[in-house]
Amino acid sequence: MKGLVLSGGKGTRLRPLTFTSAKQLIPLANKPVLFRVIEAIAEAGVTEIGVVIAPETGEEIKQNVGDGSRWGVKITYIVQDAPRGLAHAVKISRDFIGDDRFVMFLGDNCLQGGIHTLIQQYAQSDYNAQIVLKRVPDPRSYGVAVLGEAGQIVRLIEKPKDPPSDLALVGVYMFDHNIFTAVENIQPSWRNELEITDAIQWLVSNGYRVYPYIHEGWWVDTGKREDMLEANALVLEEMTPRIEGEVDAASEVDSRVTVEAGAQVINSVVRGPTIIGHNTRIVNSYIGPFTSIDHDCVIENAEIERSIILEHCVIRDIPARIHDSLIGRRVQITRTPRKPQSYRLLLGDYSQVGLL
Ligand code: TTP
Repeated sequence: MKGLVLSGGKGTRLRPLTFTSAKQLIPLANKPVLFRVIEAIAEAGVTEIGVVIAPETGEEIKQNVGDGSRWGVKITYIVQDAPRGLAHAVKISRDFIGDDRFVMFLGDNCLQGGIHTLIQQYAQSDYNAQIVLKRVPDPRSYGVAVLGEAGQIVRLIEKPKDPPSDLALVGVYMFDHNIFTAVENIQPSWRNELEITDAIQWLVSNGYRVYPYIHEGWWVDTGKREDMLEANALVLEEMTPRIEGEVDAASEVDSRVTVEAGAQVINSVVRGPTIIGHNTRIVNSYIGPFTSIDHDCVIENAEIERSIILEHCVIRDIPARIHDSLIGRRVQITRTPRKPQSYRLLLGDYSQVGLL
């Protein structure tokens, strides 16, 4: 088995963060989603992994991920000239995959419990493809699967208005070489992308064996801010807390908080599950549950809850609580005592600010 991680795309729904950085590198509990994906594949025993990258963000991904040796895997980068669809990403990966079976994992998806069991099930089967499904309360914004009497996939429908089942397609797929024939035989969709659902539907319609794996744990597709915050909360819930940094006697830090090495918590209250990154200083502040603050930040006289704050941010003297927020690298949110009292903003295109 080989692995294929899709880490190209445009990430328009996460602008402005994605103007300067790849969305797959946004951290959940201070570790990029993409690292979690590679770890899951490596833990399942797959050691050859192709990573599809976009020309705009590919270099940053290469610099952060490297050759894969830190996970004991070998990474090959495959550049996709433009986001022409998930099936297009498969098409351009043909030389890397060869005739091997492979697991394809979307680089912005997060799955509870890893993929060990499902890879094993596929490896021991004679299926041509196996797709991972999850029962969701409202499947209208997903690809939805219809199963036949023998449990096989009979039909896939993209974002149906009237869903025929509650089984949504999760961003993990297993294929054999027949998927390459499928991608050669489909046409771009209305949004001008080669859709993976069309390729899988082609396999089904042409008599190939396509079966589901129903995932019971949680799964989050981190395409939007709210999904990121949700995934961050779920990942934090599962962390084993550790205090490696300094917490002074005046602070209150509960048992579900991780304080990384070199971090300082001074005269503050921190409620878990929460992570404070290395060399970050929390001073006279309240950090509430489901918050990840990355390394080298300063939070002083502020309150933050259920948020993700990336590295090197300064948040100081803020009178209201920051909540449900996703804040990029090196952002400064401070207060100016000077009159006239006003908001002074320097915001990139597509920024979103909710004022009191
Ligand atoms: P999407 O979230 O569907 O697309 P996107 O990343 O372009 O985001 P947006 O819709 O907000 O503009 O992509 C899912 C994953 O697959 C993500 O990790 C990017 C990757 N991808 C590719 O590698 N190549 C592609 O052609 C597409 C469409 C996505």
